[in-house]
Amino acid sequence: MTIQISDIEAQLETLRQEAQSAITTAGTLERLEELRVGYLGKKGQLSQVLGSMGKLSPADRPRIGAMANEVKEAVQTDLDSKRTALQAAQIQAKLESETLDVTMPGVYRPQGRIHPLNGMIDRVVDIFVGLGYTVATGPEMESDYYNFEALNTPPDHPARDMQDTFYLPDGNLLRTHTSSVQIRYMEKHEPPIRIVSPGRVYRRDTVDATHAAVFHQIELLAIDEGLTFTDLKGTLKEFLQQMFGADLPIRFRASYFPFTEPSAEVDVQWQGKWLEVLGCGMVDPNVLKMVGYDPEKYTGFAAGFGVERFAMVLHQIDDIRRVYNSDLRFLQQF
Ligand code: DAH
Repeated sequence: MTIQISDIEAQLETLRQEAQSAITTAGTLERLEELRVGYLGKKGQLSQVLGSMGKLSPADRPRIGAMANEVKEAVQTDLDSKRTALQAAQIQAKLESETLDVTMPGVYRPQGRIHPLNGMIDRVVDIFVGLGYTVATGPEMESDYYNFEALNTPPDHPARDMQDTFYLPDGNLLRTHTSSVQIRYMEKHEPPIRIVSPGRVYRRDTVDATHAAVFHQIELLAIDEGLTFTDLKGTLKEFLQQMFGADLPIRFRASYFPFTEPSAEVDVQWQGKWLEVLGCGMVDPNVLKMVGYDPEKYTGFAAGFGVERFAMVLHQIDDIRRVYNSDLRFLQQF
């Protein structure tokens, strides 16, 4: 059976039209490759059509050959330009999805902060560690001995009044100051001693804007041969100026503590007012004797102060209760 040249021409024309419209609607490079294989591949539709060329008369073959080439080139051209377009679209989509808009608002990540009291303790401890001091701590439940007796505080001293101290049923008490750590440390160590001791203390005080039943103190103690009141003054001056500022006016006022002799209170001039910030003095020889030190050989100085009071002065906090209330609007300011 012979085949009409017009049949093959019609087949080629149909193939061209179908291929070109399929290429136009192809949405992906994978789909485009399928079409190429389907139309122009070795076993594709074009090869199949050309396979029937053998049935044509030899005179007709060149014409069909030429037409087949034309169809092939046209389809190939469409495939190429579609591939270029799809690749460009792919790059564009990638760029768009990866674009960083630097004008967008940032994402808020809540971050914890150091509590103002801990921050204050850290600062003070850092300063004294810088001056060669070691951190020492002691228990919050104390015996009468460490809290009072060994600190040269006689039984009839007002500091031992029932109103000031929380006594426990077993005869122990909650320490009223960090001075108890002085005794505990000296019992276990030989001079020279330089310690800084932060910790929680307890007083039977009525809570108000400047008093809390539980608060924090930092204690200092230095014992060595030949320490004098001048060493005490120089140390405290260095400390207070690092805390409050280099040109801070400081004054020492004579005072009384059972465990120091002489004793002083220190005031700083802060925002136009003299504010009392700590108590201090030369360690009383009786205290040195209590721990077995020879007061003829060793002298020393001690100081103690309230952390809350320092924080209130430095940060201008009007009410001590604010530092315990866990109100984030307050705490976030530090
Ligand atoms: N312990 C005293 C208090 O709680 C503060 C104090 C004063 C401590 C003088 C000292 C000192 O070490 O020498 O009020």
